[in-house]
Amino acid sequence: MSSEPFPVTRMRRLRRTENLRRMVRETTLSVDDLIYPLFVTQRAEVKEEIASMPGNYRWSVDLLPTEMEAIAALGIPAVLLFGIPETKDEVGSGAYAENGVVQEAVRAIKKAVPDLVVITDVCLCEYTSHGHCGVIQNGEVRNDPTLELLARTALSHAQAGADIVAPSDMMDGRVAAIRRSLDGNGFEQTPILSYAAKYASAFYGPFREAADSAPQFGDRRGYQMDPPNRREALREVQLDIDEGADLVMVKPALAYLDVLREVRTMTDLPLAAYNVSGEFSMVKAAAQRGWLDEQRTALEILTAIKRAGADLILTYWAKDVANLFLRGTWTG
Ligand code: PBG
Repeated sequence: MSSEPFPVTRMRRLRRTENLRRMVRETTLSVDDLIYPLFVTQRAEVKEEIASMPGNYRWSVDLLPTEMEAIAALGIPAVLLFGIPETKDEVGSGAYAENGVVQEAVRAIKKAVPDLVVITDVCLCEYTSHGHCGVIQNGEVRNDPTLELLARTALSHAQAGADIVAPSDMMDGRVAAIRRSLDGNGFEQTPILSYAAKYASAFYGPFREAADSAPQFGDRRGYQMDPPNRREALREVQLDIDEGADLVMVKPALAYLDVLREVRTMTDLPLAAYNVSGEFSMVKAAAQRGWLDEQRTALEILTAIKRAGADLILTYWAKDVANLFLRGTWTG
């Protein structure tokens, strides 16, 4: 990579017009890359805006089919579902109940829009009274007893018709446990999208209000990753690949682009990045004050995530971006 210096080389020559810039653009965001995360509540006839995430709603199962048709019509290939149950308990039994909120939502969506890829978040935190992602014994989140419950949850999602299951709990060994449970029950074709490198991040703040899943004591640092660590992320990803993950994820995205790039270099598996709630809401809030242009900022962030190495991006802007590509207008 050598070139004659100025004045022979002038980098600005290819920046002169939009068409020239288009021709040499290295990264292109596509609607094919997008996964739209949604919150489903067990209450009926609800479309309730989430205060911390403007433009995002808690949907009841009865209203989901219409929304899903709109999402599919925009060309978005996939959604990720989070459940908000009516009741919670110590062991998160709502997560693996046959008539649980996510299970019901998946059935309704697959019936209405069969081609839309439905990914389910597999975790206990929205369903446990204490808000942790695992079983508590003696004040501690226990790893091994949690695995069986996660495996049951993933299996019940697959039985309801989920196309992909996505464990986000960060227990050790969950991918293997889920793979075994799926394979043992005739779901050997159901892929696992593992939240492989998931950090204990402040950027989940708005989500916890949306999903009502904040831990009632302590925090998640005993199971989610420590933000300063990069090499450890590569080990996490490798372990999940060895356990049978079909796709791997880095989360959050924006503050972890270096991790994304390194994971991209180490594996050929499809790589997803989660543009999390805080990354979305901080731009929304600034845009509402007139401090940032939401469309330009969002596209810059999403393109940067793609440039860093992501194949797939989970983003609350999915509909806005798809609408922009399809109709030329940013709905915001
Ligand atoms: C559940 C889960 C969380 C998110 C996705 N799955 C919250 C958490 O771990 O506390 C965060 C998503 C977002 O912030 O957009 N374990």
